[in-house]
Amino acid sequence: MNTDLVFHPTAVTPSVRAAAKAQTPIVIWFTGLSGAGKSTIANGLEQALLGKSRHTFLLDGDNVRLGLCRDLGFSDQDREENIRRIAEVSKLFLDAGLITIASFISPFRQDRSIARDIIGRDSFIEVFIDAPLLECEKRDPKGLYKKARAGFIKNFTGIDSLYEEPLSPDIHIDTFKNNIEQSVQIILDHLEQRGL
Ligand code: ADX
Repeated sequence: MNTDLVFHPTAVTPSVRAAAKAQTPIVIWFTGLSGAGKSTIANGLEQALLGKSRHTFLLDGDNVRLGLCRDLGFSDQDREENIRRIAEVSKLFLDAGLITIASFISPFRQDRSIARDIIGRDSFIEVFIDAPLLECEKRDPKGLYKKARAGFIKNFTGIDSLYEEPLSPDIHIDTFKNNIEQSVQIILDHLEQRGL
């Protein structure tokens, strides 16, 4: 890192931006296997928040990888860099006063912990979208598990790349027991309980 850099405080501060939006910004970080339902629930959550006149932004794996992280692949190191960049972007959105939903496999505990540190421990809500690998493979919405099993995709999470489940997520959603609406409601209830 360049040591000749000095952070410039801005006249309009993060709390002023948040106040202008009349909300408490927060990062809601989804983790889970590909096909677990992260994107679907994240979309439902953003719509529900918008319905409550909240200002939001949704960062989603495939979309970010088509732009900001297009130079990254799926090695452990590239995933680490992917999550680091997303955490930094989430932090910027947090400072912009937005309720930010980040939906990424983010398979490694250490990388999620670094993300939490970058964003700030109190502004980070970890949501584990839990679906067994067998179920994700059965759903296979993008046909990627099939390709991975056939050896056409390397380092596929759950097949030949590790997924480390969160040990104590803030919210644990069992997608067997809860449909999309119920899953969204669980998160909304949690936000409300926290006074957000
Ligand atoms: S992460 O591991 O770095 O957090 P991220 O959420 O950005 O992953 O991207 C995951 C998406 O990339 C998956 O939903 C899937 O569509 C696609 N993908 C392509 N190759 C792989 C792979 N080897 N492992 C996992 N997902 C992959």
